[in-house]
Amino acid sequence: MNELSSFADFIERRKDFPSLERTHNGYPLAYLDGPGGTQVPRQVIDAVSWYYKTCNSNTHGFFITTNESDAMIEETRHKLAAFLGAGSGKNISFGHNMTTLNYMLSRALGKHFQPGDEILITQLDHEANRGPWIALREEGIIVQEVRIKDDATLDYEDMESKLNENTRLVAMGFSANTTGTVNNVRRARQMAYQVGAWLLVDAVHYAPHFPIDASSLGVDFLLCSAYKFYGTHLGILYSREGLLDSIPAYRLRTQEQYAPYCIETGTLNHAAISGAGAAVDYIATFGKGENLREKIVQAMERLARYEHILAKRIFEGLQEIPGVTVIGPSFATNERAPTVSFTIEGKDPVEVCKRLNEKGICAWDGHFYGIRPIEVLGLLERGGVTRVGISLYNTEEEVVRLLDVVREIAQ
Ligand SMILES: Cc1ncc(COP(=O)(O)O)c(C=O)c1O
Repeated sequence: MNELSSFADFIERRKDFPSLERTHNGYPLAYLDGPGGTQVPRQVIDAVSWYYKTCNSNTHGFFITTNESDAMIEETRHKLAAFLGAGSGKNISFGHNMTTLNYMLSRALGKHFQPGDEILITQLDHEANRGPWIALREEGIIVQEVRIKDDATLDYEDMESKLNENTRLVAMGFSANTTGTVNNVRRARQMAYQVGAWLLVDAVHYAPHFPIDASSLGVDFLLCSAYKFYGTHLGILYSREGLLDSIPAYRLRTQEQYAPYCIETGTLNHAAISGAGAAVDYIATFGKGENLREKIVQAMERLARYEHILAKRIFEGLQEIPGVTVIGPSFATNERAPTVSFTIEGKDPVEVCKRLNEKGICAWDGHFYGIRPIEVLGLLERGGVTRVGISLYNTEEEVVRLLDVVREIAQ
């Protein structure tokens, strides 16, 4: 039996994505650019347009459309709580994107922490989980970074050695958008809590590929972005019960002063919130269960298996092509995001992506704001890497096409 035969519904459901009908140079577009943002199913597009057609309004009034807007926003918080394994919608705040929410948090924590307090970041992270913390050096806060090893995994011994009684926060990723490394968040959590530090996890690259249980992980903050999991451009912050209330976020006196609202500024993007809720519902349709959470977990587990199979084929197929170097941990473990970065000897990643584009393949070049790992791995001067990623709508045919074109380019 073909290892993909139990995933026939994934192929069948490609019809949900209008953009998959596009062709380029006579090829059906193969969207291998998912790590930069996924395609969107009709259900999400409909939820956005439903909002504008039906109940477009500001919040907290006493007329029908404002009431419906309030209800939709609260319902979406509950859906995202189910998606992230949060206790309730009270743990879920919205923002423009992950970067903006993280800056909001860092500015608030900058007021909360004292000069001499320490924050630990990592070399593996996207700049969105480094820059906001590095900026706090101006407030006298000491920011240290955990090293990465040659195999692009985090050096946990280095992490341990840099933690001390002054460490107030560990800010790390769940999975690296450059190398597909999945970090051991449970291990980091234990270490962080031994010194009484909070743990903040950037799950932007992890959330599209694996189920998350923020409560059982015991993280303090976790961030993700709906446009990476078939949704809209919306940042999402999970915060542990009671934590956000104790942090002096910048906010207007007219804003609710308690979680989850106290970190949300101004009018939110209601249509995007509607679309993000629809994305969670959409993902849930791939799983079975008694309630939304159970369906999501089962769907994400299936998705992780499907994506792993295709990404492993890419990883191993690329390894066989002379002149190609694949970056990041192998697929021997399931703890590996379906994102594969590689270089081709003598070829600039921009040129590689242009050649892939000729054959209808969308792929990213460079560092994707994960500039630090690319720099540490010594790839920055060479233009970074070419990156492809698997999402639920990708197919075996696309994998074969990618490998064929890379073979041609490498010749
Ligand atoms: C791992 C990771 N973290 C953070 C971000 C930033 O997310 P946003 O675009 O929502 O600010 C990205 C975006 O690519 C990412 O891949």
